[in-house]
Amino acid sequence: MARPNANAKLEGIERYRQQVIAHPLARGISTDEVRDFIAKLPRQRFSGVAYNMRGRAPCIQPRGGFPLFEAQYRLTRQLDEAGADFIPLTIDSYTRQNQYETATQLLRRSEDEEKNYLNGYPLISHGYELTRELYHDIQKPISLRHGTPDARLLVEVALASGIVEIEGGGICYCLPYSEGFPLDRSLLYWQYVDRVCALNSAVDAPIHRESFGPLSATLVPPAIAVAIQVIEALLAAEQGVTSFAVSFGQTGSMIQDIATAKVLRQLVRQYLDEFGFKTVQTYLVYHQWMGQFSPQREKAAALIAGSSVIASMISADKIVVKTVDEALGVPRAEINAEAVDTVRYMLRTFSCAEPVTSPMIDREVNLVESETKSILSAIFDMPGDVFWESVFRAFQSGFLDVPFSPHADNANKLMSMRDANGSIRILERGNVPISDEDVLQEKQLLTATDSRSDKTYRQLLSDINIMV
Ligand code: 5AD
Repeated sequence: MARPNANAKLEGIERYRQQVIAHPLARGISTDEVRDFIAKLPRQRFSGVAYNMRGRAPCIQPRGGFPLFEAQYRLTRQLDEAGADFIPLTIDSYTRQNQYETATQLLRRSEDEEKNYLNGYPLISHGYELTRELYHDIQKPISLRHGTPDARLLVEVALASGIVEIEGGGICYCLPYSEGFPLDRSLLYWQYVDRVCALNSAVDAPIHRESFGPLSATLVPPAIAVAIQVIEALLAAEQGVTSFAVSFGQTGSMIQDIATAKVLRQLVRQYLDEFGFKTVQTYLVYHQWMGQFSPQREKAAALIAGSSVIASMISADKIVVKTVDEALGVPRAEINAEAVDTVRYMLRTFSCAEPVTSPMIDREVNLVESETKSILSAIFDMPGDVFWESVFRAFQSGFLDVPFSPHADNANKLMSMRDANGSIRILERGNVPISDEDVLQEKQLLTATDSRSDKTYRQLLSDINIMV
């Protein structure tokens, strides 16, 4: 049986790192110099410190990346001044796909024409020396936001730049983003990332890792999201990571959001403890709606305000923020800063003194917990030598199945839809190993609350685009 194991650390990492940073765009990174540089960063630059300083309100994390250094410099300060607790560095799509030459060409063109030909900051093209300058006076954590299945070089350059929060994971940055990038390779490349993060960590200043729970952000049943979050926490812990945030995206149902938060928080702790990773600190991150937004700004603002209240209710450690221009494209800096300010206002105005609960929430908690445990125990019981291989095989056999993932290794047999409360229900489990009782309960919840017996294609679309 292949269970998570602290002895499963990637071997030969020092030589492996030298191969990765031999790339000319690593510009002669020295692993020793980077370690010293990170050790000397102000304490407030570390996520754990920022999390521990938070009062009752969740920390605020915008996203943001522009191709030009000057634009990124200004955005960084605008978001800081608007009250962001975490400063983002969102990477452009070419860099995410390891197409560094194209990214560099489009950066030059952006500079020449003073126009944005990239949808984010091409970190590898700019390099670590310049990027250190972005943050010389910033006293908050910088968070790397990307979507890269092979982030080995990117993370080396990020760490060298003083970015000590790294989002992503072998599953969550592969399944929703790519059709053909082999999942087993992604899992192995993220072992590298986790190991390098661990190697650059000090006991009181760990490099922080965060997983991306929304996945395809399209009718993903909470149990699938929670199972994948627990798996990525365990995979990171195997490599020595000691500070980790699990996350999930607003589901579209308040009951399900509250239930998902509770189960996710509890199970990630439970499984880390069970496999001997008691010292790993965990945090919970809530993503504002990751699906389609209304192009009407008033509605977008209302959605952003509403999900801020939910973040308070679930006592999230951090909320990742959208903007009123979400439907239009990459937001201008002012709009982005405005979103931070709105969310800050909402969090201050609506704090939640006690966990919210009700019989309906309890029923949802029990169902999501039972389903998640069934899925995870089936994966832990799979034959094999190492945990990551079981995870890989779990996708091949459809034990894990992410709706609307474009990836070739995803089974696409699980079918989900919304009930009358807007909660995401499992209609067909496919090969996902949840019990007959839980499947029955899912079906009953669908029919008990929903008079529409046959769900048409149109209904499915409206389930997906519930916020528009
Ligand atoms: N700047 C700001 N936000 C961005 N997003 C993606 N790229 C950028 C960027 N360069 C946000 C959008 C998108 C989400 C995944 O990330 O809101 O929907």
